[in-house]
Amino acid sequence: MGDRLGQGLQEGLRMFEVKCFECGAEVENAFLDACPKCGGLLTVELDLDQLGSLTMKKMRRKPLGVWRYAPFLPVDEKKAISLKEGGTPLYDCQALAPMVGVSRLWVKYEGANPTGSFKDRGMTVGVTRAVELGCKVVGCASTGNTSAALAAYAAKAGLGCIVLLPSGKVALGKLAQAMFYGAKVVSVDGNFDEALSVVRQLAHEGHLYLLNSINPFRPEGQKTVAFEIVDQLNFELPDYVVLPVGNAANIWAVYKALWEWKELGWIDHMPKLIGVQAAGSNPVTRAFREGKADFEPVDHPETVATAIRIGNPASGKKALKAIYDTNGFATDVTDEQIMAAQRLLGRSEGVGVEPASAASVAGVIRLVQEGVIRSDESVVCICTGNVLKDPDAVLKASGEILKSKATAADVKRVIGL
Ligand code: F0G
Repeated sequence: MGDRLGQGLQEGLRMFEVKCFECGAEVENAFLDACPKCGGLLTVELDLDQLGSLTMKKMRRKPLGVWRYAPFLPVDEKKAISLKEGGTPLYDCQALAPMVGVSRLWVKYEGANPTGSFKDRGMTVGVTRAVELGCKVVGCASTGNTSAALAAYAAKAGLGCIVLLPSGKVALGKLAQAMFYGAKVVSVDGNFDEALSVVRQLAHEGHLYLLNSINPFRPEGQKTVAFEIVDQLNFELPDYVVLPVGNAANIWAVYKALWEWKELGWIDHMPKLIGVQAAGSNPVTRAFREGKADFEPVDHPETVATAIRIGNPASGKKALKAIYDTNGFATDVTDEQIMAAQRLLGRSEGVGVEPASAASVAGVIRLVQEGVIRSDESVVCICTGNVLKDPDAVLKASGEILKSKATAADVKRVIGL
């Protein structure tokens, strides 16, 4: 396709290049998912000099949402495949903050996106890119949310969609969504890491355009969650931004967004980033504890938070850079801590998130107890997906339903009135 990225620009489009995150080589072939020289991860580098005359005031003329930040996105906004993603609430959790033991705690509620997770931010950009490249079929491997989002955006764009899911380990809501939007859904007899390697092979053979987050256009869209947080807080930065880590691209996206605004002088420092993993799927946390820049895969990842049940995170190296460069932290939490945090958030604030998302809150609780986060510090937790994504986990954790006859007397009896 000879798509020298940044070439053939139309007016209004921003200059960018795709580069190797590891060796810095420019990558011209738009269909590669790794550096042809060293096999490293790819990243998009924007020409920030182009954005010199841009101001937040100008950007704020558009509604809050992914496309408010179009100058930072490497696709043509006029061709955007959009379901009006982003613009999610930032809840000031005044009941939860003292329970957790911090001065301020906000939850960025990504469950309010069109398909119920933050993946929509990456997919609006990724599927727009696929259309720009003339692709007809898109695909991914997924623990569920990526496939739900891809299926919806592919439907909107009129593209074919193939998704590979680890068999028996995808939450019901997510599976239903992917099927509902018309994707070809394949349950693969293996875990996410194995499904990802199969779908990469299908992409290399030319059967589909890969829209897992190793495609560097996905994190570009996901950057907007960080832009929104800073925007919603009127540039008063929190001490920490905390998020769950699975395949590890989202924490990189948040880092990249903050870095770009720091380069432009819009913020003067970066909040510390904290990545939280499930104890049974914690390769990034293990690497962090050993001070390493790369990680060893975990062979048999296991956790109730199936969204982050990943042992060999494709963007693990990027996540570690994001954590080290911001003087941040990685930690892990047990399934019990995840489910307790999910319930606490729901019952203290009325905010329903899926288990993986609650890992961020559980991580804050752990780090406050360990003295890493101080009681006078402020925290934003990115809660990545909606509670309805995984009704089974919630029902299992919520106890028995009360049963009664259809009389007031019996209802009073069972609830003890
Ligand atoms: N939270 C939720 C709800 C997720 O679905 C995921 C990832 C993450 C957090 C972790 O983000 O991978 O960028 O570190 N879900 C992917 C999927 C893997 O296939 O839906 P990450």
